[in-house]
Amino acid sequence: MTKTISIISQKEGVGKTTIAANIAATLALYEKKTLLIDGDPQSHLTRYAGIRPMEITDTLYHAFMGKASAGQVAVQTPIAYLTFIPSGPSLFLTEHRLAIKPGKELILKKIIQEIKNDFQYVIIDSPSSLGFFTICAMAASDWSILPAACNVSTREALSDLDEIIKMVQDQLNPDLKIAGTLWNMCSGKDGPDRFLSEGERKQIPYPSFKTTIPRDDMVQKASRSGKPVALCDIRSEAAQAYFDFSVELLKKIA
Ligand SMILES: Nc1ncnc2c1ncn2[C@@H]1O[C@H](COP(=O)(O)OP(=O)(O)O)[C@@H](O)[C@H]1O
Ligand SMILES: [Mg+2]
Repeated sequence: MTKTISIISQKEGVGKTTIAANIAATLALYEKKTLLIDGDPQSHLTRYAGIRPMEITDTLYHAFMGKASAGQVAVQTPIAYLTFIPSGPSLFLTEHRLAIKPGKELILKKIIQEIKNDFQYVIIDSPSSLGFFTICAMAASDWSILPAACNVSTREALSDLDEIIKMVQDQLNPDLKIAGTLWNMCSGKDGPDRFLSEGERKQIPYPSFKTTIPRDDMVQKASRSGKPVALCDIRSEAAQAYFDFSVELLKKIA
């Protein structure tokens, strides 16, 4: 059965887009049929994929508005097993245009349902906010991953997020589960133990994944060249961490 996984945090710069791109690519390299969705009107993931949002006609916006089917907006990427749904700035109009439409938070779920049988995994990138598209992403997901950056104070952000998660579980998607907190941009293999006190660790609402993603310049180099880090330098620390993380994730959500 297809598993839909969203990458959620209201904090800018914790690595949501990078994590979505790299998990999806790593799963595809493991020959898992994967659909990656840019669920953020800022379209960073679409740019990451080397697509200029202004130059494409069919995006997630068109699917939201019922002007295109999911199949029409999905594009095959240069990576076998990896399909992508781009977004564009017009997605900003969606919430306004759908303002009084009942059930608008479930439209992304319906879009995914149209094609989910073609895929084993669906990965959704979401905006740095707790607004409409983040709620749509969680409403469409079986699992969410909560990235946190090792270098910033994330504790409060994680507890605000917990409130929204509970609201989504209560009102929109009782099946939503949290796979865990993924610590990103860590030095070496250090996890939260190094910079959070025991008391602070206890306040983190969801358990941390064992694998952490190291801070690695290769990640930025890869994103500038529009590639996942594994295709830039498969031996880099970050590429290896993404392979380890994908194995841990698949076990967790099996
Ligand atoms: N593991 C990492 N090592 C080094 N830089 C990283 C790593 N993960 C993300 N980055 C960089 O951090 C910045 C923010 O990441 P991004 O994925 O855009 O965050 P978000 O989507 O949460 O706003 C980007 O420049 C990205 O290349
Ligand atoms: Mg982003």
